[in-house]
Amino acid sequence: MYNEMVLQHFNNPRNVGEIENADGIGIYMSEFCGDITKFWIRIKENRIIEATYRTKGCAASIACGSILTELVKNLNIEEVLMITKNHILSALKGLPEKKIHCSVLADDALKDAIRDYLSRNLFPVPTELVEKQEKIKPLLKKMKERGQILI
Ligand code: FES
Repeated sequence: MYNEMVLQHFNNPRNVGEIENADGIGIYMSEFCGDITKFWIRIKENRIIEATYRTKGCAASIACGSILTELVKNLNIEEVLMITKNHILSALKGLPEKKIHCSVLADDALKDAIRDYLSRNLFPVPTELVEKQEKIKPLLKKMKERGQILI
């Protein structure tokens, strides 16, 4: 079902884990399947110098998070904001149709980490990122209240 590239990243995921004192932390839940991905980023002079992630999701979400941590390394914030699921899909050389939403989850989690970084530093935050977070906040809050671990 998965190509060799996806399997490589699934079997040997890069940059899994947390960054201590990260400059931005993002979390997102797929509206499609309920899986969750979290991203940590370290920024220096407006560039991502390190990105890590964890996911509570499928094999494709592991591969998407892994490749995305590599794709964004050394990109500046403006360049990272231009990343879309299509960049992830093309870097992975494709995913089965029913797994495309897994790339959206990784992208949303990374962008939420950017939102966090921008707002912590009082930089303007794109409206789209604020709206996305507002949409997911009540769901994550409910899960937390139920004692469900959010990675
Ligand atoms: S099926 Fe949920 S992230 Fe892949």
